[in-house]
Amino acid sequence: QDPRIARISSAIRVIPNFPKPGIMFQDITTLLLDTRAFRDTVDLFVERYRGKDISVVAGIEARGFIFGPPIALAIRAKFVPMRKPKKLPGEVISEEYSLEYGTDKMEMHVGAVQAGERVLVIDDLIATGGTLCAAIKLIERVGAHVVECACVIELPELKGRDRLAEKPLFVLVNAA
Ligand code: PRP
Ligand code: MG
Repeated sequence: QDPRIARISSAIRVIPNFPKPGIMFQDITTLLLDTRAFRDTVDLFVERYRGKDISVVAGIEARGFIFGPPIALAIRAKFVPMRKPKKLPGEVISEEYSLEYGTDKMEMHVGAVQAGERVLVIDDLIATGGTLCAAIKLIERVGAHVVECACVIELPELKGRDRLAEKPLFVLVNAA
């Protein structure tokens, strides 16, 4: 394993019982305070995706907006925000997805991603996989291709990876 992974892993703070009892919250704000670990995180993704002919990095609100843009700049790709409902001002397409209680929606600007483009989807964490599934659907609806989904952290017990069907998922850190 790359020696940078251990530093990244230990820079992520785990806060028990947030936002509710029983949840072990994976807090990446402490990773952002460790300038070396933050840079290593971005570098590991850039090393993987540079030269892969990716024209769009799609970042999922909110924490995909932190990791996505530096990766997009480094690989000379566009950045497209995938947002919570009613935030984007232009014409949007939207996809509903399920949460632990109820549903939420993800929206993307029409025209932001073109048919045939090769897209990398970025978020901080995969839990059940519902969020990444919605992002994949939006991108495929406009005829673009999801090359891979990438997250800093995976919660493997929740088996979110299985919900992505055949889409490849790359993660840096597995959380218990
Ligand atoms: C968290 C996390 C992922 C998503 C993963 O975001 O940042 O985006 O949950 O969950 P899933 O794999 O079960 O879909 P959250 O919805 O809490 O919103 P936020 O990023 O805006 O805080
Ligand atoms: Mg999120």
